[in-house]
Amino acid sequence: MLTAGVMGWPARQSLSPRLHSFWLNEHGIDGAFVPLPTRPEDFSAALRGLRLSGFCGVNVTVPHKEAAFALADRLDPLARVAGAVNLLVFGDGGTEGFNTDVFGLAASLMGTLGDATLTGKPTVLLGAGGASRAAVLALDSLGASEIRILNRHRGRGEALASALAPAVKAKLTATGLEGWSKTARDAALVVNATSAGMKGTPPLDLDIEVLPKDAAVCDIVYNPLETDLLKRARHAGLRTIDGLGMLMHQAVPSFAAFFGVTPKVTPALRAELEKALADG
Ligand code: ATR
Repeated sequence: MLTAGVMGWPARQSLSPRLHSFWLNEHGIDGAFVPLPTRPEDFSAALRGLRLSGFCGVNVTVPHKEAAFALADRLDPLARVAGAVNLLVFGDGGTEGFNTDVFGLAASLMGTLGDATLTGKPTVLLGAGGASRAAVLALDSLGASEIRILNRHRGRGEALASALAPAVKAKLTATGLEGWSKTARDAALVVNATSAGMKGTPPLDLDIEVLPKDAAVCDIVYNPLETDLLKRARHAGLRTIDGLGMLMHQAVPSFAAFFGVTPKVTPALRAELEKALADG
């Protein structure tokens, strides 16, 4: 039996076991994907234990993505640039680290917007944390001409822009959130990669009306599924992309690495995850 899991802390409900179990059933694979709540101070020892006990690999989520980056024996090129790893595969030659968040967001955006929608277009990225690093690379891979980073602490946005500028084609700029009206005016897409708006946290107070009528708004947060930002975008008649798309698509290469089958993102999978979210 092939076994994999997801390491994270605090031990909150992750949707990944439900997602991978859906695919394991669908493909009739004799495997398991389990939650692995792991304190930061135990991460390295736990990883060694999982490897020795025969796991084929793990997904890694908050707050372990940088530690996973540091501990991997080998890194794929995207993980190297992102500075973060969300997939570790245990092989004979050591532990290999991947970043599938970049692919996940790009695939989710493409699924809704189509292949060429962002080519040559300016975009706005809210936030400058770990999720934003992956978002910069995803927007660049979709051909955005500009990525305007807006962050509460402007310095963090500037640091992100200078760190990633050499690795991307898009022009990167950084301002504080007060730059919203000016930067959003002609944006084709806004991606919220801050944690603001997550269940129990206040949303960002941004005037959606300044966006062009053909703009789209994406939120990486998926709990709640329709964040305050997405609700306001929908009411303004804009296209919206919720965080479940990225979650489902980032899991595709992970499942393929663990279980040897490339699964599909389908409406039935989405319905399963929506049900899990509704059940709490
Ligand atoms: P992650 O790795 O998930 O991106 P993180 O590194 O803690 O998490 O980053 C969280 C992001 O959300 C940051 O951009 C943070 O802004 P600061 O860098 O200014 O702290 C942003 N964020 C969190 N809560 C916020 C709030 N209430 N208003 C605005 N931005 C917020």
